[in-house]
Amino acid sequence: MRHLMSPLDFTTEELDKLFDLANDIEAHPEKYAHSCAGKIMATCFYEPSTRTRLSFESAMTRLGGSVIGFSDANSSSAAKGESVSDTIRVISCYADICAMRHPKEGAPMVASEKSTIPVINAGDGGHQHPTQTLTDLLTIRSLKGRLDNFTIGLCGDLKFGRTVHSLINALVRYEGIKFIFISPEELRVPDYITDMLREKNIPYEEVIRLEQVMPDLDFLYMTRVQKERFFNEEDYIRLKDFYILDTAKMDLAKKDMLVLHPLPRVNEISVEVDSDPRAGYFKQAQYGVYVRMALILTLLELV
Ligand code: CP
Repeated sequence: MRHLMSPLDFTTEELDKLFDLANDIEAHPEKYAHSCAGKIMATCFYEPSTRTRLSFESAMTRLGGSVIGFSDANSSSAAKGESVSDTIRVISCYADICAMRHPKEGAPMVASEKSTIPVINAGDGGHQHPTQTLTDLLTIRSLKGRLDNFTIGLCGDLKFGRTVHSLINALVRYEGIKFIFISPEELRVPDYITDMLREKNIPYEEVIRLEQVMPDLDFLYMTRVQKERFFNEEDYIRLKDFYILDTAKMDLAKKDMLVLHPLPRVNEISVEVDSDPRAGYFKQAQYGVYVRMALILTLLELV
């Protein structure tokens, strides 16, 4: 039995197989419409979500399976003090696979140690968001045809943004990747990540002004300032609108630069950018369903 805690749990060869499967599901959804008949997915979300929870539920439903779960810790027995370990033991009696989001870093890992069914980390605190990374990689590979030799700008809250941490960890395994980190001083990417990049001799720059680097980017990965992880409301208010991507900034970019965003967006991408053909973030959300369908089939060993 296999869990998914980090994007690194799959080799790059395994990821290629997963993405081939996701692309086949996109092209031929009818082939997979009954693949999970009789199977049940539990979505255990201790933290709010729109995309991750509903795309898992959509994925399982499109595979012919069923879904149970909760979308709020307060509507589960966590509100009475039940531990994650006990909850997963019980969920293991009710479902065949579980996707878990939790505000505490490592909680899905703790669950996986007591689980008798595959557990998927659907986001743990500011740590990792592996299925968002699978979504991001599938989007890049599907729209650009490869995962190597890119300059990627990551912009916004690089300190608390778990999608950023997961994506960097995953991309370092591909050739010719250069990172440009664009953030205010207070939201810089954590030291453990820049230490890792230096150890692996992977080029990166850290800048504050987005305009300065727009012409160099093949991808721009925008992120929201993570209000829920701030200790101090004043800091959040000061930093929340530090970056706003608008059409004037898009004019500085390459004609084929792609804008990605894990969503939800707040103000960091102006809605006027949505009609630019380089805006890839809603397409990215769609790929999130295909890749989660492929992941469910893989972890349930149905392919
Ligand atoms: N991208 C993402 O994780 O969105 P949700 O928080 O809505 O699941």
